[in-house]
Amino acid sequence: MKAVVLFKSFTGNTRKAAEYIATDLQQEGWGVTGVCPWNRPEMAAIQEADLVVVGTWVDGLFVVGQKPFAVNAIQHLPALQGKLAATYCTYAINPGRTLAKLDTAVTALGANVVGGLALHRHKLRAHSEEFAARLVDNVPSPLR
Ligand SMILES: Cc1cc2nc3c(=O)[nH]c(=O)nc-3n(C[C@H](O)[C@H](O)[C@H](O)COP(=O)(O)O)c2cc1C
Repeated sequence: MKAVVLFKSFTGNTRKAAEYIATDLQQEGWGVTGVCPWNRPEMAAIQEADLVVVGTWVDGLFVVGQKPFAVNAIQHLPALQGKLAATYCTYAINPGRTLAKLDTAVTALGANVVGGLALHRHKLRAHSEEFAARLVDNVPSPLR
């Protein structure tokens, strides 16, 4: 199984999570074709991947109005027909419905979203590990 990790980050938490997730997936035996900001996507890395991980940070008023930062930019990514996807967001207090909104945007690109997790910004290491482990478990075994 080959994955690419696309992220959007402002202060670095979501980038750091992207790197942890890539390392954890590799430890589970997956290949990683690239780790890059989604506004500068590596097209070859996306094309080569079976599964696309998309991550961003929670933007809102902390307890209300939460949304995935720059979610509208996702529509400019290449079409993901035939690919699996997984989403994550990093947050400080409460992610609200951020993941569901991110899933809707990624599904609109044609991907089949198989999982997602909100990662607390102070628990990035542990939550990234959990994300990668759950992802490997959620992917149908003939594809792993
Ligand atoms: C303008 C702004 C709005 C934010 N709104 C929320 C929010 O509504 N809920 C929340 O839990 N965290 C919120 N956060 C915290 C970020 O989601 C969190 O720090 C995240 O890890 C930042 O990711 P980054 O370091 O990749 O930019 C907000 C941060 C900023 C700068």
